[in-house]
Amino acid sequence: MDIDVFTLFPAAFDWFQRQHHVASALAGGHTISYVNYRDHTPLKAGQVDDTPFGGGAGMVLRVDVVEAAIRARYARDPMGLRRERTVIPLTPAGRLLDDALVDELAARDVLTLLAGRYEGFDQRVLDNFVTMELSIGRYVLAGGELPAMVLCDAVMRKLPGALGHADSVVEESFSKALEGAPEYPHYTRPAEYRGWAVPEILLSGDHARIRQWRREQSHARSQRPQTERPLP
Ligand code: ADE
Repeated sequence: MDIDVFTLFPAAFDWFQRQHHVASALAGGHTISYVNYRDHTPLKAGQVDDTPFGGGAGMVLRVDVVEAAIRARYARDPMGLRRERTVIPLTPAGRLLDDALVDELAARDVLTLLAGRYEGFDQRVLDNFVTMELSIGRYVLAGGELPAMVLCDAVMRKLPGALGHADSVVEESFSKALEGAPEYPHYTRPAEYRGWAVPEILLSGDHARIRQWRREQSHARSQRPQTERPLP
């Protein structure tokens, strides 16, 4: 998979690229490349944004700046780009990212992610250049870099070979194998700690019963809302 990230802050991804599953995906031939809007702006003094028409707070990433960066990278009109690549701007109001969407995107060969800053993109970018807007949750972050990393992280760990243990992405929270439910609880040594014992069944060695218990736990968790725990 080849991912291009358009951003004003490519250095923000330095730490991310060093994470084990990302580094192994990259070593295995997948790529993440960065395009800095500022390197291609047609405006003076590296300008990339402007004040909103109609007034209001914040600055808006300009459509001509986004177009220039896309043209510099792909040598084509950004209006047709989505015929060849999946073009995704990160926006708070976009389609909410979930496991099914991660699977869908992990199956594509080429992604173009557009990270915005400030108040976001001029609407004409969203109306004319993109495949779908994507959100990582209904709250507003200062920019699209963290959401782009969240998306790359979730997608790249699904690529074959990225994780040490291939089964970990098959039966995990929200996967088809668990019918979209959260994962069952995990325990490791010590088998007893401060009087808190690991469920007997997990020590029984009876794999059929363990599988059944895990399915039940996973289902029960999906029925139980996460609320603040009462104090002991
Ligand atoms: N940009 C700012 N906030 C965002 C969010 N919640 N999801 C995706 N992109 C964003």
